[in-house]
This record gives sequence, C-alpha cells and structure tokens, in this order.
Amino acid sequence: VRLNPNVVATELPPLLELTATAERLAAEGRDVIRLDQGAVDVPPPPAFAARLVARLADPDVHEYAPDPGLPELRTALARHGHEAFGAAWDPAEELIVTAGANQAAFAAILALAGPGDEVLLPAPWYFNHAMALTAIGARPVPLRTDPDRGFVPTPDAVAAAITPRTRGLVLVNPNNPTGVRYPDHVVRQVTELVVAEGLWILADQTYHELAFEGGAALSPAAVPGADRNVVTVGSFSKSLGLAGWRVGFLAGPAELVRQVLKVQDSSVICAPRAAQVGLLAALPDARAHAAKVRTLLSERRDRLMTALRDVGLDGFAEPRGGLFLFLALPGHTDDWAFCRRLLEREWVAAVPGATFGPGGGGSIRISFGSTPADRLAEAARRLARAVGRL
Ligand SMILES: Cc1ncc(COP(=O)(O)O)c(C=O)c1O
Repeated sequence: VRLNPNVVATELPPLLELTATAERLAAEGRDVIRLDQGAVDVPPPPAFAARLVARLADPDVHEYAPDPGLPELRTALARHGHEAFGAAWDPAEELIVTAGANQAAFAAILALAGPGDEVLLPAPWYFNHAMALTAIGARPVPLRTDPDRGFVPTPDAVAAAITPRTRGLVLVNPNNPTGVRYPDHVVRQVTELVVAEGLWILADQTYHELAFEGGAALSPAAVPGADRNVVTVGSFSKSLGLAGWRVGFLAGPAELVRQVLKVQDSSVICAPRAAQVGLLAALPDARAHAAKVRTLLSERRDRLMTALRDVGLDGFAEPRGGLFLFLALPGHTDDWAFCRRLLEREWVAAVPGATFGPGGGGSIRISFGSTPADRLAEAARRLARAVGRL
C-alpha cells in the first residue's frame, strides 16, 4: 500500500521501549522510580465522580454531545477562561470543548497550516506539536533557546526566523520539556511582533494554572489587539487530574473556530460527553484544586532541585511551572544510552532530551509530577551514581 509520505516521515519517539522496560523491572520487584511520565498523581475534585455517578443512569450521558461541546459547559469555560487566562471568549462562537489539549492543538494546526508552511517552535520542543506539523506536510522550524538564558526565546530570534513561508508560532507556557515560564514582557513582545507580521500564535496553556513564582503567565490571547491572531488550547489533564477523560478546550477567533469544527466533526465528533458532564460539576472548584496541585508541585520542585545540587548536578534552569526539569548531563551527549543504563542499573526512568528535538540532546527530562519528594531525593542520588559512571 502507498502511505502518506508526510505521516511516514513523522517520527514517533521510541518511548514505548523505556516504558516497557520500566514496567518489566517493576514487575520483577525492582524499586523503580518513574520520572518519565508527564502525569500528576492528584485525583480529580470529588465533584467530578459524584456528578457522573449520579448521572450514569440518564440515557443522554451516553450519547454524542453537540460538536462544539455542551452549551452550559462552554459558558462555564468562558467564565473560567476569563478568570484564569484573562481572556474574553464568546462561548457561542469562540470556544469549543475538545478531547484534550492535544486534539485541540492538532485541529488548530490542521486549520492554520498546510503543506510547505513553516511554523516556529522554541526548541527543545513538545514533540507532539512537531509531529502534527510534519504529518500535515508543514515544517516545524526550531527556534533554539539557550539553557543559560533559561530557555526563553528572544523576540529578536523570532523576528530573524520569519520567512515568507512562516505562518505562525507555537508557545508552550509554562513549558514542556524545559519547565520555563516565559516572562510576561517576552510574551507581550513576541505576540505583538507576530500580530504585526500577520501570523498566528498557537498558545498551548496546558500548564497555565501550574505556574509557580510570579503567578499565572500572561496569555497571548490577553495581549491587547491580539485576539484575532491567537488560538489558545487548554487542558484539564494535569490541573484537575483528568488525563484519561480526554477533555480540554480550544478558544480563538470565530472564523478559525468554525474551521476547527470541521476537523472536530470529522475526527472525534465531540469530546466525550461523560467527561463534559463531570467537568461541569468540577469547574467551580477548578482554581482551588489547581492551587493545591501547584503547591504540591512547587514543593517537589524545590526538593528535587536541592537534592540535585547536593549531588553536584546543577545543569538545569529552575522550573517555574508545570512538572518538568530539564537536566544537562555533564560531558555527555548520548542521552538515549544514558537513559537505558539509568533504568537498567539504577531503576530510574527519565526521558532522553533528544526526544524533544533540536537542543534537547545531552539532557534528560525529569518529571516531578507523580513522585513524592523523598523519592525524588533518592532518584537524585541514583542519577549522580549513573552520571559518575559515564
Ligand atoms: C504542552 C502539552 N500540550 C498538550 C498536552 C496534552 O494534554 P491533553 O491531555 O489535554 O491532551 C501535554 C501533555 O503532556 C503537554 O505537555
């Protein structure tokens, strides 16, 4: 059979191998520490399950929802968007419920870019965005960021990377994999630049509610004059612990949302209705819940940083939000070989930095989302042993 060459050229990071090894070692009784998974071990607010249990006998819960999502949920999400993101979205035309932020980002990318288009991504990047662009025949263009400058892209670098083929820019803030929270003035300058060039921004704000110091970052959608050029995707996978329920949102100008609905209808039709019903009940508690998750994560971040520094591993920019720390391996470039050895010999699972595109090699991504603080300290000791053996 003839396959779509763009999809064939799209690389799926070979992480299944690491996951399978971690699971095998755990099944053999090894004391495995999982720093590879971008997950948070905090269960969702009780209102989520309570509402679902109460509604499961209702026939409508098992049916399709309207393509853009339940109207009452969209109204509630627009309110949430205003409070948490500082953005004003019309729930009737500018906001839809999606099957998570990833589906939202894919739908947005398909609606905004086509074959031959270039899209700028600060790198190291979140590989799913690069994969989506490659799969549709567009080109992810890395904007290399400097670890010594905290992985923050400069407006000058953005300006220099723009070509006649450039269509847009993706901003993940706070960032996966680097943990950086871009300073508001950088978000503002970059957004203004992109708007002035007539390009679009895909703002992936999966970790927006999990920013530590300085509070929530500026949303590109909240920059005056930018609302027609910005599409925002949001997630409840981490802030509300709903990863398996596949529910998130996309918000942007009405003319874009109308196009995205075609992608939505022809792919998932709608986000799972049961998840929408539960989310509607959980949303009033969402900000307080996210604050609890944020406090827990920042405590773990602190403990992890201290433990790493104590063992002499200080090649990282302080994470300012989300779940990730990006650690440079001193004098080492083959991060895949390192991660395999780290897992086989020290029973610590972490993700090789090369997975995250240009600039990622020679580092590893550590998730502190689902590992208690004392285990993070133990992981740091094992990491130091593995590095010492390089
Ligand atoms: C930057 C980023 N976007 C999107 C997602 C996926 O979110 P969701 O579960 O809402 O699809 C993740 C998950 O790790 C992420 O890190």
